[in-house]
Amino acid sequence: MLTTEGIANKTAVIGVVGMGYVGLPLALTYAEEGFKVIGYDIDEKKATAIKAGETYIKHISSDRIKDAVKKGLLECTADFERIPESDALLVCVPTPLDDHLQPDLSFITGTAAQIGPYLVNGQLIVLESSSFPGTTEEVMRPVLEEHSGLTAHKGFYLAYSPEREDPNNPRYNTKNIPKVVGANSEKSLELAVALYEAALDKAVPVSSAEAAEATKIFENAFRGVNIALVNEIKVILDAMGIDVWEVIRAASTKPFGFMPFYPGPGLGGHCIPIDPFYLTYKAREFEIPTRFIELAGEINTNMPRWVVDKVMNALNDQRKALNGSRVLIVGLAYKKNVDDMRESPSLRLIELLLEKGASVDYHDPYLPKMPATRRYKYDMASVELTPENISSYDTVLIATDHDNVDYALLVKHAQLVVDTRNATRDVKEGRDKIVKA
Ligand SMILES: NC(=O)c1ccc[n+]([C@@H]2O[C@H](COP(=O)([O-])OP(=O)(O)OC[C@H]3O[C@@H](n4cnc5c(N)ncnc54)[C@H](O)[C@@H]3O)[C@@H](O)[C@H]2O)c1
Repeated sequence: MLTTEGIANKTAVIGVVGMGYVGLPLALTYAEEGFKVIGYDIDEKKATAIKAGETYIKHISSDRIKDAVKKGLLECTADFERIPESDALLVCVPTPLDDHLQPDLSFITGTAAQIGPYLVNGQLIVLESSSFPGTTEEVMRPVLEEHSGLTAHKGFYLAYSPEREDPNNPRYNTKNIPKVVGANSEKSLELAVALYEAALDKAVPVSSAEAAEATKIFENAFRGVNIALVNEIKVILDAMGIDVWEVIRAASTKPFGFMPFYPGPGLGGHCIPIDPFYLTYKAREFEIPTRFIELAGEINTNMPRWVVDKVMNALNDQRKALNGSRVLIVGLAYKKNVDDMRESPSLRLIELLLEKGASVDYHDPYLPKMPATRRYKYDMASVELTPENISSYDTVLIATDHDNVDYALLVKHAQLVVDTRNATRDVKEGRDKIVKA
C-alpha cells in the first residue's frame, strides 16, 4: 500500500513496468534516491542483463546498473505474480501506430490485463506512455478494474504523468526535467505528486489525467509543426540559393519571440512523428479537424523524397544517374549520438534510393548491424569509414550528425557529399564537393 509516510521514509517499493528507453532511467533514478525498485518486463533479456549489471541502452552506463543492483535497490523480472511487492507501478510501455497510422494501444491494455489480476488495495498506478487525452481513464482504467475487481481512486489509485525523456541530452535528464502529473481524484494526485517529488526535482500538478495527457501531445505537436515550418523554409530558401542554416543562426540572435528549430531529412524517433496522429485520432471523435498538425505531418513526411531529389540532381551535375550509383548513408539513428533508429528517416531514404536503382550502404558508429523494424528488414552492417571505402561511393549522404564521425576525412575522400544536417559546417577543404539538402 502506498502512503505519503512510505514515500517520505523511502520504504515504498517502486515498480516500473516496461524497462525500455523511458523505464530504465526512471528505475535508476529512484534506486539512486534510495528506493527499492522492481522492473517488470515481458522481455526476459532485460531481467538477465540487469542481473548481470549490463546496460542495453548505449547512453545509460553499466556502472549505474551495477551500482544499483549491488546495493540491492534494483532488480528486474518477467514474473508478474510479483506485482503485489510494489507499492506504486509506473507504466512505461510502447504506444506505436498500427499499419493504418492509427494509435495502437494494445501494449497499454495488454499491460493492464497482465497486472490487473495481481493488484492489491492501496497501490498507485501511473501511466507514463504518450497517448491522447482519455487514455488513462477511458482505456486503461476499465481493463484494470475488470481484471482486479477493484475500483480506481478507491481500491487502487490512478494517475497519468507524461515522460519527457530526451535521450543523451547533457543538460536535462529524468531527474531534473519537471514532471507534469494529473489525476482524477485528490488522493491519487496527492500520492503521485509526492512520489515524483521524492526522487525528481519538481512535479507540476494539473487538474486531471486528461490535462496531463493533453500537455504531452501539445508539446510534441508544437515540435512537429515547428520542424515542418523550418523544413518548408529550407525548401523555399534552397530554391532561392540562400543557406537556411545561416538564416537560422542569424534569426537566433533575436533575444525574444524566436526559438530555433533545425531542418533535416525527415522526422524520426518514437514521439514527434507518432504522437500528433494520436491527437488527430481523438479529435475525430469530436468532429474537429487537425489541419495544422496534418499539414506539418505532410511536409515532414515529404522530406526524404526532397532529399533524394537533391541527391539525384547533384549526381546529374556530375553526369551520373542515381540508378546504378553507390550511395553511402552516414547515420542511421534518428538523431545524433544515440543508438535508437525507431522511425528514423534514414530507413525511408534507403528505401527510396533502392527504389531508384541505387546500391546503398550505411555507416553508423552506434549501430554496427541494422536491427530489423516492423516495416524494414534490411540485412546490412555498418561500413567502416576508411579513405578507400569513402572514395568508392558515388556520393555520401549525411542523414545524422553524430559527433564522433570525422567529417573532414569524409569530405576529403568523398566524390560528393550531400549534407542534410549541416554536419560539415566546420570542414574547410573540399567544400565544392558539398551539397546541402
Ligand atoms: N524514448 C523516449 O525518449 C521517450 C520520450 C518520451 C516519451 N516516450 C514514450 O514512453 C513510452 C515508452 O517508450 P520507450 O521508448 O521506453 O519504449 P521501449 O520500446 O524502449 O520500451 C518499452 C518496454 O516495454 C516492454 N513491454 C512491452 N509490453 C509490456 C508489458 N505488457 N508488460 C511489461 N513490459 C512490456 C518492452 O519489452 C520494452 O522493454 C512510449 O509511449 C513513448 O512514446 C518515450
